[in-house]
Amino acid sequence: MKSFQKSENIVASGYWISLPQLSEMVKKTLKVLVILIVAAVIVLQFFRIDKANPPVVQAETLEATTVVSPDISLIIGRSCNDCHSNQTRYPWYSNIQPMAWMLKNDIDDGRRNLNFSIWSTYAPKRQSKKFEQICDQITSKEMPLPSYLWIHRGAVLSDTESKALCDWAKGEQARVDAAIAAAGQ
Ligand code: HEC
Repeated sequence: MKSFQKSENIVASGYWISLPQLSEMVKKTLKVLVILIVAAVIVLQFFRIDKANPPVVQAETLEATTVVSPDISLIIGRSCNDCHSNQTRYPWYSNIQPMAWMLKNDIDDGRRNLNFSIWSTYAPKRQSKKFEQICDQITSKEMPLPSYLWIHRGAVLSDTESKALCDWAKGEQARVDAAIAAAGQ
């Protein structure tokens, strides 16, 4: 307390502003800042993301063109389809900015890289590559995106599920590769 008083005196005598005045200014500035941030967050809420899923053409889906067991279909539906299909289920935080923008970004990015709803439009070579990547990404735990699993605990893959998905992807990759070889491409 003593040293505080001393510095107050120094400030009061040597500078154009006293310590109490300074702390009052800091308080006011902080108040204005908080009000501005709150206002910005409120304004952000008026920006909505487009939650319309692109149409699903049944004939183009993974299920229509690949052997997918019900088990595998369930795993993909639960853990991957929100970002890798046109059947996204939008969670509650898709109504809250800026989370909604981040989510939308992941969905757009995810679909661009891999979209199970338009699987048949991929050339065989691309399908083969995607099957390989699926196994790689889940083995290295890069997929499903960790930030997504943080909220969607139900999408976490058990070791058994990871292995099942990986084995399936490898099997399908071999099948596509054989077809590519047979076609002499
Ligand atoms: C929350 C959204 C989200 C979920 C859920 C998700 N992914 Fe992804 N995925 C992405 C994004 C974003 C990218 C592209 C950016 C990247 O590679 O990190 C991607 C990329 C990929 C790629 C391509 C990687 C490459 O190198 O091009 C594969 C394969 C993949 N994901 C597989 C899966 C599988 C399998 C699942 C389910 C087990 C899954 N993802 C779940 C968002 C997601």
